[in-house]
Parts: sequence; C-alpha cells; structure tokens
Amino acid sequence: MNVTVIGAGYVGLVQSAGLAHLGHSVRVGESDLGRLQQLSAGKMPIYEPGLEELFARAIEHGLITLHSDNHEAVSGADVIFLALPTPPDGNGRADLSILESAVRDLVPALAPSSIVVVKSTVPVGTNALLRSILDGAGCSASVVSNPEFLSEGSAVDDFLKAERIVIGAEFPADAEVLRRLYDGLEAQVVVTDPVSAELTKYAANAYLATRLTFFNAISNLAEEVGADVTHVLHAVGLDRRIGGHFMRPGPGYGGSCFPKDTSALVTIASDNGYAFPMLESVISTNDMQRSRIVERIVRELDGDLSAARIAMWGISFKAGTDDVRASPALAIADELAALGATVVAWDPEARTDEYPSAAGPLEIVEGADLLLIATEWPEFLRVDLAEVAKRMAGETVFDARNLLDPELVSEAGLRYRCLGRRNA
Ligand code: UDX
Repeated sequence: MNVTVIGAGYVGLVQSAGLAHLGHSVRVGESDLGRLQQLSAGKMPIYEPGLEELFARAIEHGLITLHSDNHEAVSGADVIFLALPTPPDGNGRADLSILESAVRDLVPALAPSSIVVVKSTVPVGTNALLRSILDGAGCSASVVSNPEFLSEGSAVDDFLKAERIVIGAEFPADAEVLRRLYDGLEAQVVVTDPVSAELTKYAANAYLATRLTFFNAISNLAEEVGADVTHVLHAVGLDRRIGGHFMRPGPGYGGSCFPKDTSALVTIASDNGYAFPMLESVISTNDMQRSRIVERIVRELDGDLSAARIAMWGISFKAGTDDVRASPALAIADELAALGATVVAWDPEARTDEYPSAAGPLEIVEGADLLLIATEWPEFLRVDLAEVAKRMAGETVFDARNLLDPELVSEAGLRYRCLGRRNA
C-alpha cells in the first residue's frame, strides 16, 4: 500500500520504519529541514534501539522517501498517518493547533478515498473535530483513530511484536484497510468506534501510572513498617490476576507520556462532568515520591547538603532511552541542587547542560559524598564497585531503582541504601 506519515518524530519514525518493514511504500513528510537532512544521511535524531538500522534498510530499498512538502508527501497515498506533536497547553489539555493546521493544509491534496489516521495521542473527541474540519472544507476523506502503544527503548519491538492494534473507525471498510496494512503482525486487532479508541490509549497509560504509583506507595510503607518490598512484590505478583510486571519501585513515573496523559485524562473527565479524584491523587502521589527520595538523601548526609557533592548515575527518565522529558532523575537533581548540593551526572545516552558530566561512571564519582542511582541502566551493573569506593569521598550508594545487588555493594565497602527496606 502507499502510505504517508506526517511527522518524523519518535512515533512517526517508528511507524514509517515498521510499515516499510511490512513491505509498504512510505512517504515521510517533515517540515524541519535539518531533521530531514539528518535522516537522509542515515542518522536518527533520537536514540531508539534498532530504529536506525530498520530505517536505513527501508531507505536503501526505496521503501521510504523523505519530503519537506506535505502535499508532495500525501500524493498517491491510500493511508495518511498523522504523527504530529500534541504538547500540553498549560491547562492540562493537549494543544491541537499543529494537528488542526496540518489537516487544513492537507485538504487540497487529499484524494476523496484516502484515509487520514490519527496516530498522535489526542483528547477524546479529536477524531470528530478533524472530521468536522474536513466536512467544512468539502473533503470526503475518512478519519480513523489508531493510537500508538510504543514504549521508549523498545519501540521497534513494540511495533513488530505488538500485542494489540486498536482501530477506531466510523466505517467497516476503513477498518478493513487498516487491518490489511498491519497484515504480517501477530497482534490482536480490536475494531471499535473512534471515541472508544481514543479513550483506550488514555485508559491504558493511566492504569499503568496508577499501578506503579500504588506499588511505590507499598514500597514506602514497607520502609516504615520494616518489611522487604522485594519479597512483598514477588509474592503479590504471583497472583495471576495481578502479575509481577510493571511494579518496580522507583523515583516515580516520568517521560513524555504518563505525566501528560494522566493530567489530560483528569481534564477530559472534568470537561465531561466526571470527577476523577483517584487519578488526581495518583499524580500528586507520584510527585511526592521524588521529594521523599530527596528527604532520605538529606538524612543520609546528616541534614546538610551545603558542602555535599552528589554524583548521579542516570539522567534519562528510564533506561534504554536518551529522553529526559519529565525525568525524575533531573527533578531530584534540581531539588538536591536547590538545597545546596553540587550535583554531577553521567548517563550512557542522555545528556543535560544543567549538570556537569565526566568521561564515564567511574570518573563521575570522583570525590562524591554520595552516589545516587537515578536510572536503571544495566551498564551500571558492570561498573567495578571497589573502584567506585576508592574514588568516592563518602561511602553511601543510594539506589533509587533497586538496581544493584546489595551484597556486592557492601562487599565493596560501601553503604547501600535503596527503596522499600527499613535499614537499607
Ligand atoms: C509509556 C507506555 O508504556 C506506552 O505504551 C505509551 O504509549 C507511552 O507511555 P514510556 O513512557 O516509554 O511508555 O515508558 P514505560 O516503560 O511505560 O515507563 C513509564 C515510566 O514508569 C518511566 O518513568 C519508568 O521508569 C516508570 N516505571 C515503569 C517504573 O517506575 N516502574 C516500573 O515497574 C515500570
């Protein structure tokens, strides 16, 4: 099939490379010329395992072409994916102006039988809004919702081994075209109406955010009552109704999706006359998790950070990505710095101008009073802990991801502190 993807951001790039891998001919429309040049030179603007190779192979086989002009990009397309940004507007709502103006601009170039697919995460009702824009312009192209469920760091796999594909279409014929487009994937296909598809995306992310916030609260409680959260979570997760996934204690959720989507769902609910205090509490409880970690670090350093040097391992919001948007690591670093600490940080992929870095994980701990593990990169498991102990001025390792083996840290002569245990 001839497919167009408008927007060469994170979602658009994975979608383009994935569809080309399934054998479709994909035209990518992107207005940022710098980004287009980078892509045509075979460079990815983001770090995502496997994406560069998949994209380069598709370009090599002529299955992906790059276009700065959206009209040129949609010419001859059966299906047009919109993978454009919908940033928060400051009131908890998604700003749809980029999406709306792209659709208005596309109208003259759309074939009457083409299908416009909304891939961006959009508030419930956006498909209907786009439908009315097209109707107002006398355009008969269809609008379909097909939310993405990609997780950063495993997005290529999430596409190729998708568990489900949700298609929200007004007309069965449009749903059938989308279903055929994804032929070759083993995913379960759920066909529904556009509003249900839109809500599915928010429901999934809000549930996951709620789940891990709940288990962070259980981890905090374990510290207070003297239980070991590792054992508690293992035992709780053995119940098949609960499962042992997505419950790792940490500094709270971050990234480009959960914070934005939970706030958006609260707003969607209130705009529709439904109060959602449970989700509001998830958002505030998640914010408190960072402050709790900061309070514990302050206690470890005897209540005074003014002369403290804190080395942070990890800057990205989670392992496997260079994305620092709403990263708990940076939020914690900011709180520590505000209390007077000197913070230095190293990450295998992510970079920040806010805090000085060093050549590697050993160099960064030089002279540090405390080492904070803020992101769960597996690379940190391979660092020589005896060398860490030698280079640090202090002896405390605060593992905010429960990543390291407590025994190995103690054997290296360091004091191990983590989440969910009273004396550790
Ligand atoms: C998420 C959804 O998983 C994905 O389906 C959606 O489309 C986009 O949002 P992503 O933000 O990439 O993906 O990351 P995810 O792996 O879901 O983690 C979200 C946050 O939860 C991260 O800050 C992560 O560190 C945290 N987390 C996750 C935990 O603290 N503990 C866990 O057990 C799992």
